[in-house]
Amino acid sequence: MEKEVLSILDKRTNFPYDIPIEKGAIRASDLRRIKSGPDDFGLMSYDPAFLNTASCQSAITFIDGDKGILRYRGYPIEQLAEKCTFLEVAYLILNGELPTELQLKNFVAAITRHTMLHETTKSFLEGFRHDAHPMGMFISTVAALSTVYPDAKNVHDPEVRKLQIHRLIGKVPTIAAYTYRHSLGYPYIYPDDDFSYTENFMNMLWKMVEPKYRANPVLARALDILFILHADHEQNCSANVMRAVGSSQADPFVCIAAAAAALSGPLHGGANEEVLKMLDEIGSKENVRGYVDKIKAGHGKLMGFGHRIYKNYDPRARIIKWAADQVFVATGRNPKLDIALELEKIALEDEYFIKRKLYPNVDFYSGIIYQALGFKPELFTVLFAIPRTVGWLAQWQEMLQDPEQKIARPRQVYTGYDVREFVPIEQRAVRAASASR
Ligand code: CMC
Repeated sequence: MEKEVLSILDKRTNFPYDIPIEKGAIRASDLRRIKSGPDDFGLMSYDPAFLNTASCQSAITFIDGDKGILRYRGYPIEQLAEKCTFLEVAYLILNGELPTELQLKNFVAAITRHTMLHETTKSFLEGFRHDAHPMGMFISTVAALSTVYPDAKNVHDPEVRKLQIHRLIGKVPTIAAYTYRHSLGYPYIYPDDDFSYTENFMNMLWKMVEPKYRANPVLARALDILFILHADHEQNCSANVMRAVGSSQADPFVCIAAAAAALSGPLHGGANEEVLKMLDEIGSKENVRGYVDKIKAGHGKLMGFGHRIYKNYDPRARIIKWAADQVFVATGRNPKLDIALELEKIALEDEYFIKRKLYPNVDFYSGIIYQALGFKPELFTVLFAIPRTVGWLAQWQEMLQDPEQKIARPRQVYTGYDVREFVPIEQRAVRAASASR
């Protein structure tokens, strides 16, 4: 097959260039050959917020944002959500193939072995104020684990990496549950390996004085499905942070803490908490239209709406809506659902949202279902971080194994002063003073 080539004519020099096209992309470094003269550094591409820049090649997650398609390792998200457990999907994301029964049994055993936290980590949690935000506690505690496992620094040893992956997937629900118990002043509950991953999380959250906690199987399955839907989402803000921090060969605990910090922002995983605040602010179905008008007039954003990649319905939101119906049979209907449905209806019929292709994203309905499951809004983003740990680790591992990857270091287009003569302090007058005002 003939190689695909992009022909460029540089009108500054009238020089022609042939730039190879591979897998629908050109290599930005090929542009460096394009120079206006011998002293020119070479052409760069300028792409704030990576709107059109692929930072890696990845075989983990596929998204077609126009068609609303999401697949992990080639498998449609709808099939995985219907037929798999979360740990089965975690195995798939990390290893590329669905596990056999034996592989799954061994994987589950490996994760379960690592669910306990070192006792000193519990004392570390004790240091937080009672009203500390769970996401802040989660990020700091995951980072603190780096001090407990110094062996994790050996990131080029595949066996060491595997052990940290098991440790992190095993421990994040325990940390998440302890942040919740800490905020209520309740004693921490040790993990129980009689339970599935999700049931054990529920046990650590909600067990009180009963000898054995029994999770409602409908609710446990719904949470498992939510975990599947949140497990990976290719090169989003936090995955990009995971890869960038990991590219400096920092250990995976601090990398996950950094990725979780990126997730905590309201434009990313923090949106699920914001959606609930927004629904509270709207208050009732009758107020929806007025709220939408305010958004259109430039007062804030409709939280849980819009996506950089999806310009169609987010397939995860569709599955969450379905799972919510199952949960409401067991818990009773969350009245906020009616406001959310009205909001979706009005927004999807409105020219502003149609023109910008703004649809509900994963965070729009997840908060409503989390609330029905009994979670406080402050915990919502932590609930996102637990399953996304799997995706971050898969992205991190892929990055470390990719011979083309190096330390992440973007370039800049410098717009500051050219060289200036130093001004002694007593001669610095009006300009500096007005700048500091
Ligand atoms: N409400 C109202 N207007 C919006 C919204 C929204 N939620 N999202 C985007 N727009 C408008 C935006 O103002 C812009 O309008 P204009 O062209 O007139 O300037 C246009 O749509 C394009 O938006 P953008 O900001 O250029 O899009 P982006 O790709 O940079 O941002 C986003 C994507 C998800 C950050 C954004 O849609 C947003 O802030 N949504 C609300 C927060 C949210 O729900 N985040 C969760 C994302 S999904 C899960 C995850 O990744 O964690």
